[in-house]
Amino acid sequence: MGLSMRFDIVTLFPDMFPGYLSQSLLNKAIEAGIVDIHVHNMRDWSTDKHNKIDDRPYGGGPGMILSVEPVIRCVEAVQAMTDDPGQVIMMTPQGERLCQPTAERLATNVRMILLCGRYEGFDQRVVDILDPLELSIGDYILNGGEVAAMVVVDSLVRLVPGVLGDQQSSWDDSFSRGNRMLEYPQYTRPQNFEGHEVPEILLSGNHKKIEQWRKTQSLAKTKLRRQDLLE
Ligand code: ADE
Repeated sequence: MGLSMRFDIVTLFPDMFPGYLSQSLLNKAIEAGIVDIHVHNMRDWSTDKHNKIDDRPYGGGPGMILSVEPVIRCVEAVQAMTDDPGQVIMMTPQGERLCQPTAERLATNVRMILLCGRYEGFDQRVVDILDPLELSIGDYILNGGEVAAMVVVDSLVRLVPGVLGDQQSSWDDSFSRGNRMLEYPQYTRPQNFEGHEVPEILLSGNHKKIEQWRKTQSLAKTKLRRQDLLE
C-alpha cells in the first residue's frame, strides 16, 4: 500500500464526527485504507467523579476553561496507541491561519492529533506541555474546534496521493503554486434555461479562444474579489 495518514481527534463531542466521516470522498479514502481516523472523548479521562473536564478561570472572568489533567492524560494515551506520537495540533482562533500552503506542509505528516476546544479554551499548561501547532481556520469564532478539525481533515485528505483523481489534483496544484486565481464560470446543459444562455464562446469549439476567455474571467474575478491573491 502507498502513503497513508492517521488522524486522532480529541473532543468532548465525538458524535459530531461519524456523519461527516461516512460521506463521499472521505469515506472512500477510509475504506481504501489511505486515511485512518480515530475519535476520542476527553471526558473519558476525567479524574473527577462527576466527569468534570472544565473549571472556572483563575483571576475571574467569564466562561469555563478546559482542565489540564484530562486533556494531557487523554493525549498521552492517544499518543501511546502507535509508535509515532504524531504532530499535535490545537484548533484555536489564536493559531496560525490555515491556507493551502499550510495544508500542503501539514500533509507531510503521517500522524496528527487534533485537539478540539470548547468553552473559553484550554488551560495554558496544555500548550506549555504539548507544544502543539496552534491552528485557526479563519478570523471568526466557532462554538468549538470540531468543525475546524473537520476542515483540516478535509483539506489534508485531498492531498494524500490516491484520494483524488488526477484532474482534480492538478486543479488544486494550480491554486497553491504561485498562480492563485479564482475559478472561471462553468456551464453544463441545457444551453438555454428560461432565457439564461450559456456564453456563445463556449459553444464555438475554438479551444484557444475558450482558454483565453476563461483566463480573462478568472483574472477579472480575482481582481475584483481577491486582489490579495495577485500580490
Ligand atoms: N475554535 C473556535 N473558533 C475557531 C477557529 N476559527 N479556528 C479554529 N478553531 C476554532
